[in-house]
Amino acid sequence: MSSLTDNFSRVIDYLRISITDKCNLRCIYCMPSDGVVPAKQSDLLTDEEILRITKIAAQLGVKKIRLTGGEPLIRKNVIPLISSLKLIPGIEDLSLTTNGILLEQQAEFLVKAGLDRVNISIDSFKPERYREITRGGNLDAVMRGLREAEQRGLIPVKINMVPVRGLNEDEILDFARLTLDAGYHVRFIECMPTGGGGFWSPEKYIATDEIRQTIETLGPLESVRARKNGPSRYYRLKGAKGVIGFISALTNHFCEDCNRLRLTADGKLRPCLFSETEIDLRSVIRSGASDEEISRQLKLAVEVKPKEHQLNDTEFLQQASHPTSDSVKRPMSKIGG
Ligand code: 5AD
Ligand code: SF4
Repeated sequence: MSSLTDNFSRVIDYLRISITDKCNLRCIYCMPSDGVVPAKQSDLLTDEEILRITKIAAQLGVKKIRLTGGEPLIRKNVIPLISSLKLIPGIEDLSLTTNGILLEQQAEFLVKAGLDRVNISIDSFKPERYREITRGGNLDAVMRGLREAEQRGLIPVKINMVPVRGLNEDEILDFARLTLDAGYHVRFIECMPTGGGGFWSPEKYIATDEIRQTIETLGPLESVRARKNGPSRYYRLKGAKGVIGFISALTNHFCEDCNRLRLTADGKLRPCLFSETEIDLRSVIRSGASDEEISRQLKLAVEVKPKEHQLNDTEFLQQASHPTSDSVKRPMSKIGG
């Protein structure tokens, strides 16, 4: 039993670690075109600090680690970091969320380092549109990266797609069809009003129910009873090899299954993606804290984990179109998708 059980009986066994706030793309819903100042190198957690925190978290019952960003593959020495994380007793599952741009060159080394799986973010299969959404990304490189990851055994490959009205909603079916012949997990993520410098609007937002209805024009979706999936719900088209998931950040309160803590690249522990509560673990570590003290801070983060987020509130959504508060302005690249 994990010693990280929160006040709502949720067992926290999953730590998402952002290892850089920088990205080699600038997706329009995630980052404004300019003006995001990256953290100073000295403000980022070092490899040693990340490893120390992970070891202590593992002793408390964390079994699953996901590296995120920004784009995690642009962090210097990411491969040795992964090798060291993999060796930590208690860590059973080590994965990474990437935009895939650097995957073709890195997949081989990621596998050798012990990475188990990757999530790749792709919002369009049309090269021109992909370039527009990511402000310059090369889809061909991502597709080569995806194939390389698959061939090297980083499976199941999960593909994250954020449908946006007027942008890529006409590709929802193409993404869903991908699961018919191959074992992909295609996950549709509701566009959230975080980052993107006011990109989000109620008109652009597409709710899970609507995405689902669109997909069901291909046939009924059977529910897949998986073990704990956190905030994802999984389904299968009849006879399909892969599965379809929905991450309904806004419509459903997926919070009741939340099993995670987040660590930002600059060393803040975040009990919830959407709350402004943060614990400054970097300062704690750099003031010479003992392992016991770090352990205490991790437990504290779990203790203050809110029951659910308030993202559904009208007030919050209104603000999202005119960002003023930090939780709306801070892009995923700063929190760790
Ligand atoms: N809404 C939904 N998903 C987002 N991501 C980044 N910003 C947003 C947003 N505002 C997604 C990326 C990636 C994952 C890490 O987070 O597309 O798949
Ligand atoms: Fe980079 Fe991911 Fe944000 Fe796109 S969504 S800009 S790939 S961090």
